[in-house]
Formats: sequence, structure tokens, C-alpha cells
Amino acid sequence: MTVALPEPYFLHGEPKQVLVFFGGTGHLFTQKILPALYFLQKEGRLEKAVLIAIGRRFSTQTEYQNFVFQNLKQHLPTAKDSSLLKLAKSFHYLSGSLEDAQTYRELNRLLPPLPQEIIFYLSTLPSLYQKVVLSLKEHVLSAVAPRSQKIALEKPFGRDEESFAQLESTLKTVFSEEEIYYVDHYLGKETVLNLIILKAENLFLERLLSGEFVQQVHFVVSEKEGVGERGTFYQETGAIKDMVQNHMLQLLTLLAVDIPTLCEEDRKECEQFVVTMNRRRTHLLEEVALPPAKEIKLGQYQSYQAEVNQLHSRVETLVQMPLYLQNPRWSGVPFWLSTGKKLAQKTSFIEVTFNSLTETPNRLLIEIQPEEKIDLIVNVKKFGRELRSVPAKLNLCLSGSFQAATPQAYQKIIHDILLGDHTIFPNSSFIRNSWKIIDKLLALIDKENLTPKIYPDHSPLPVF
Ligand SMILES: NC(=O)c1ccc[n+]([C@@H]2O[C@H](COP(=O)([O-])OP(=O)(O)OC[C@H]3O[C@@H](n4cnc5c(N)ncnc54)[C@H](OP(=O)(O)O)[C@@H]3O)[C@@H](O)[C@H]2O)c1
Repeated sequence: MTVALPEPYFLHGEPKQVLVFFGGTGHLFTQKILPALYFLQKEGRLEKAVLIAIGRRFSTQTEYQNFVFQNLKQHLPTAKDSSLLKLAKSFHYLSGSLEDAQTYRELNRLLPPLPQEIIFYLSTLPSLYQKVVLSLKEHVLSAVAPRSQKIALEKPFGRDEESFAQLESTLKTVFSEEEIYYVDHYLGKETVLNLIILKAENLFLERLLSGEFVQQVHFVVSEKEGVGERGTFYQETGAIKDMVQNHMLQLLTLLAVDIPTLCEEDRKECEQFVVTMNRRRTHLLEEVALPPAKEIKLGQYQSYQAEVNQLHSRVETLVQMPLYLQNPRWSGVPFWLSTGKKLAQKTSFIEVTFNSLTETPNRLLIEIQPEEKIDLIVNVKKFGRELRSVPAKLNLCLSGSFQAATPQAYQKIIHDILLGDHTIFPNSSFIRNSWKIIDKLLALIDKENLTPKIYPDHSPLPVF
């Protein structure tokens, strides 16, 4: 059903970019994308952009704009009502099902004859992605000819290597690799991006990050909340597909990669940096070795089965395991991954522990959540007459140091899509290789019949 169509916006002047959000009423859109759009608008980066949102929940544009305003107000309580209203009122809303060809015809009606660029942002059910792409091909892109077109997709990108290959092949009937942006919001976070600079611009650190000096690396993503309303989704996913396949392998490859020389101003050089980084990180995934089955610990929080109403569910809500890299730089170093839901703390960090002759080894701690900060733990002299040591932190608190709020990850993500900068987006080969690892891991778990052990809700890590 499509009602109360807004006027075609091109009557109001020549837009530079048209952003079409599929799932414009959903959780991710309201929690993350809307606040990011607010900040981008404030920075003047959406001056010539037209925003179109598609959903089913509301019938009229006014209802939708009210919904946008209320959501913005909730997330940005200190912002001026007038600037929130400005953004809310700039949305064109299209009410309709993504499974209905009529919705795409109506979308056509809203688009100008020759837009400079159209960006399709898919923040809807992943099961609809292929349908949306094929419908765009049939009903939209055949009718309008933008000078440039892009598509951004939220994870998950398939359920395994095979389903990802199908998704990729559908995408590539319409979009080239350069036009596709696979969004992993972890890579938009300041501290994660800082890893690139820390490695590329601090030679001593890049050299220290190797098996010669490192005892182990630990990646932790611990959540306090359970699956909540996402039970159906989680039953088909579990912690390994939800967290390891994307965020954790992203972090692992960023930390372990042989970083190329960072680009300066030169555009060609910068493009080359991205290409080389992506190629090296994708190749690293081919060097990942799984641990013996006994080192893989799976868990499920106590109230999970009742929460998802599946009394015999074997879905893991927690995984703790090491991965190894079979290359000269990292041979023998365990990269521990720990991720789980309904744990004691909401936190995510990377901890690098260096080889040591003392009881308190040096550590590099890169905290991503709740704060974005970097600590180097060194041993210094304990105050007093004796020559004794005590561990101390050399601290870089990102928000504090630079006197500004760290930009939200989604602000960077959308800005980079507008600019066409691929640095923080995994490419298809990376995703394909990461699924290969996950498929092998799940086959091993199946073969060894590993089942999750129950852990009490809100347990601290390590759970087992
Ligand atoms: N939520 C997160 O924190 C998060 C984090 C990372 C990635 N993601 C990914 O982001 C995507 C969206 O997640 P979400 O949490 O926002 O989901 P959600 O809250 O369930 O929202 C789904 C959106 O898709 C729309 N939709 C569903 N079926 C439709 C149909 N047949 N026709 C038209 N619209 C339809 C819904 O519209 P109506 O409700 O108006 O019908 C709604 O706007 C998923 O791929 C998810 O995996 C989410």
C-alpha cells in the first residue's frame, strides 16, 4: 500500500546526491543512522542531498517526520528542536513493501530524471537484500540514469560462503565492486581507525607487533544485553556468525597486517594504500589456522532458551577460542577471541601482551567501548628508596586528548560513502575469506559435537 506521496523533490532544485534508506523505520536506522545524519547535516555535508526513507509502519509523510523528530529528540536531548525539525522535515517518506513492485515504481516517481548520484542504503531484513537489488535493476535503474550509483548494506552478508556468493553475484548484476559498501560499523570507530595510524606512523610499535615480542593477543567484545527482540534472527546466527565472522576478524587483520606506507595528500597514493591494505588483510585470512577442538569453548546464557522460547536450543551466545596465523611474523602467537552476550560488562578491547621476564608483562590496551582510549602498560620505579617496579599506564584518551567528542562511527561511514572512500569497508574477497574460516570452524564444531555450556546471566569474562 502506498499513500500520501510527497511531491517529487526535484521540483525544488538540482540535488547532488539522493540517499534512499530501505528500512527507514527500523532499529538501526533510528538508533545510529539518524543521529549520524543530524551531525552530517550540521557540518553542512548534506546541503545538496535528498533523503528518502522507505518503511511500512507509517502511512503518511507527516507521521513519519514526527517519528523522525521524536527519535532524534530522544537520542540528542541537548540539540535544538529547530535543527532536529530541519532534518525531520527534509525526509521524503515512501510507505510500501519491498516485496511489491509498486513500491519501486513509486520510488521512481520521486527520483529526478538525471540525478548526479544515487546511494541505496539497505538497513532492512537481510533476507530482502537480493529482492531489493533485483527490483532496483528492473524498476528503478532502468528508468533513471544517475551519473553515479552506490549501494551500502548492513551485515550479515549471507549466512555462509555459498549464500554470500549468491548475494555478491546478485549485487554484481547491477553494481561494480567499487560501488558496493559492506558496512561493518566497528571499522568506523575512532580507536579502531587509530590502529592504522598507530601501526603506520609509529615504526617501533609496528615492529613490536610480531611473534618476536608478542606473547598473545586478546580481542574481547562483551555485551551486557541478551538477544532481546532479536531472538529469531539470533537463533539462525549465534555468536560466531554474529561477531567473529565480521567484527573480530576485522580487528584481527587490522592488528596483524603488514601495514603499507600511509598515503599523504596524493589521491592515487591513497587509493593504492587502500588497495594494498585490503589485499594484505584478505590474504591474512588465508593464513588463519583453527585451534584444536578442545580449545574452543562455547557458552549459552542461562535465560537464553526461555528468552527465545526454544527449550533445546544449542545456539552459542558466547565463544572463547584462539586463532593462529601461519606466517613468519605471527607464527605460534595465539589470537584469543572472546565474545558473548548477557555478560557482566559491556566492553570491547584489544589487549596485546608482550613477552616478559617480569610478573607484570607490558601490555598494549586498545579500548573501543565503553571509552575510546589506548593504554601502554609499562613498569616504572615504585616511589620510595628501594629499587622496585610497579606497573603504570601511559594513557591516550581519545576524546579527552583532542578536546572533542569522537565522531560517531556512522557519521564516518555515511560520510565515506558520500566521498567514495573505501578504506573502512571490507571488500567481497575479504568477506568470502572470512566465511571460509567460519564454515570450517562450524564444521569442526559439528564434527566434534561441541555444545554450549550454560553460564549464569551476567557472568564476568572469562566464563570458563
Ligand atoms: N540493530 C542493530 O544494532 C544492528 C547492528 C548491525 C547490523 N544491523 C543490521 O541492520 C539491518 C536492520 O536491522 P534492524 O535492527 O534495524 O531491524 P528492524 O528494527 O527489524 O528494522 C527492519 C526495517 O526493515 C523494514 N522492513 C522489513 N520488512 C519489510 C518489507 N517487506 N518491506 C518494507 N520494509 C520492510 C522495517 O519496516 P517496518 O517496520 O516499517 O515494516 C524496518 O524499517 C539488518 O541487516 C541487521 O542485521 C543491525
